[in-house]
Amino acid sequence: MKIALLTGGGDCPGLNAVIRAVVRRAHRHGLEVMGLRDGWKGLIDDQHFPLTRETTSGILHRGGTILGTSRTNPFKVPDGLEKLKRNVERNNLGAIVAIGGEGTLSAAARLSDLGLPIVGVPKTIDNDLGGTDFTFGFDTAVAIATEAIDRLHSTAEAHKRIIVCEVMGRHVGWIATYSGMAGGADVILVPEVPADLSRVAEHLQRRHASGRNFSIVVVAEGTKIKLDAASEEKLITSGALDEAGRPRLGGVGQLVANEIERLTGFETRVSVLGHIQRGGTPTAHDRVLATRFGVHACDMVAAREFGKMAALRGNQVVSVPLSEATKQLKRVDPELFDVAQVFFG
Ligand code: F6P
Repeated sequence: MKIALLTGGGDCPGLNAVIRAVVRRAHRHGLEVMGLRDGWKGLIDDQHFPLTRETTSGILHRGGTILGTSRTNPFKVPDGLEKLKRNVERNNLGAIVAIGGEGTLSAAARLSDLGLPIVGVPKTIDNDLGGTDFTFGFDTAVAIATEAIDRLHSTAEAHKRIIVCEVMGRHVGWIATYSGMAGGADVILVPEVPADLSRVAEHLQRRHASGRNFSIVVVAEGTKIKLDAASEEKLITSGALDEAGRPRLGGVGQLVANEIERLTGFETRVSVLGHIQRGGTPTAHDRVLATRFGVHACDMVAAREFGKMAALRGNQVVSVPLSEATKQLKRVDPELFDVAQVFFG
């Protein structure tokens, strides 16, 4: 049987570890693997190349994806579904392994409902997918953000400044919460809790009045901002749309910094980590989790366990219905955020 493998959506460290694991396990099952270029686009345009032990050797530690990626949705491309189905037959594909986040796996679930043999692997630095306790890419993004926050501490202290660190997290604040806690942030702002900047300013004023004359504020890019208790909360966008037609986020960190400086009079600066959180080599944790997901996904193909995805439950890798990945976003656990708030101020 031949497997087609694709990586879709935002890239993240660990994708190549999954690819390598699927190919190595497939060899054990006597399965042939072909790599689709640039996500679902590769299956629509029939763009692919063979994946072998040789062509996937030495990629475990590499960031990005040797397949390329895109946010192409086959259901939004003219004749996309027909072309995709035709290429499945033309290439005599026995299974498609889709490695992706909310967009990629939503398309995977729909294609599975139409009878295509699909297995999913959850991927996102945001860790916002349901059905799995964690996704690979998240640990690496948190490690990168935490290292940045540690560095921001020393320069904020030297200049007696407030520094706002904007991290990724479109719908949820897992990266902000984990890296803020790990980095000892004094305030953490997340999409799950609309930020009242007048209260944030009061908080920081109390902190500085008690002699702690520098602060770190971590804010997720998708945090909704209330300029004061009476104003409406709003998402801060850059005005452009992304490939999936969604408003591109941008500017929340600068807005928060401007308002803090205006309300408190404390000198404030901003650092936007952006795609640095998605670049470079995965942590050891993500290399292992990605490898486990890839091996499990290949075993699911061999067992014809379609319409499901590999998932982490506790420390076990299991198979869960694809619908669980996209049924609802996994938001930051309120109990965890309560613990984070113990250290605000
Ligand atoms: O979904 C992962 C993610 O990194 C989000 O955190 C971020 O908002 C988005 O992708 C950025 O997308 P792009 O790389 O297309 O700008």
